[in-house]
Amino acid sequence: MQSFMETAMARRSIRRFESRPIEEDKLARILEAARWSPSWANTQCWEIVAVESPETLEKLGAELSPKNPATLAIAKGPLTLAICGEKEKSGYYKGTKSTKFGDWLMFDLGLLTQTICLAAHEEGLGSVIVGSFDHDKVNALLEIPDEYEVVALLPMGYPDHAPSPPKRRELSEFCHKEKFGRKG
Ligand SMILES: Cc1cc2nc3c(=O)[nH]c(=O)nc-3n(C[C@H](O)[C@H](O)[C@H](O)COP(=O)(O)O)c2cc1C
Repeated sequence: MQSFMETAMARRSIRRFESRPIEEDKLARILEAARWSPSWANTQCWEIVAVESPETLEKLGAELSPKNPATLAIAKGPLTLAICGEKEKSGYYKGTKSTKFGDWLMFDLGLLTQTICLAAHEEGLGSVIVGSFDHDKVNALLEIPDEYEVVALLPMGYPDHAPSPPKRRELSEFCHKEKFGRKG
């Protein structure tokens, strides 16, 4: 098993997959890890729709933004998870926003999604978070109820390429000491 540091650094966005399916027990372990993600006041506003039907995957791929590099990963891949959330739950107390940011659904779903990506990597699987698509059309396609939203699509499968890591900002560029702008 890889160390957490290796997993965090070696995970990459994978946009081409082998056609072989993902074993059920692997997917179950990945989703079990996701279940333990943190969330606002443990609200766990997430819902996950697993799409494996080639017909629906083609239709999902067609809703991505033009030239989205993840289009074929969805349209031709073995599995896409639609990461959905219940609105006005995370960040709310008795129906009222707790902070100036309102709905923390995006934040909680981001945490869940990263857990899935890291767990998938540990299982030898690749994935890519996809956020640029027609959300309303995907909501309709997957019959998502009005109180929920699809936020991200997460195609997953056995990697068919090994991309080199995109450059990261240096720690010294974004870490501050005591007050913003003070470097140490
Ligand atoms: C919120 C979010 C939305 C993203 N949307 C897309 C997308 O629509 N299409 C795509 O190909 N990659 C998408 N990505 C993947 C990023 O491009 C990728 O994570 C980034 O370039 C860093 O590369 P790495 O994941 O290999 O480290 C998205 C990532 C995040 C976190």
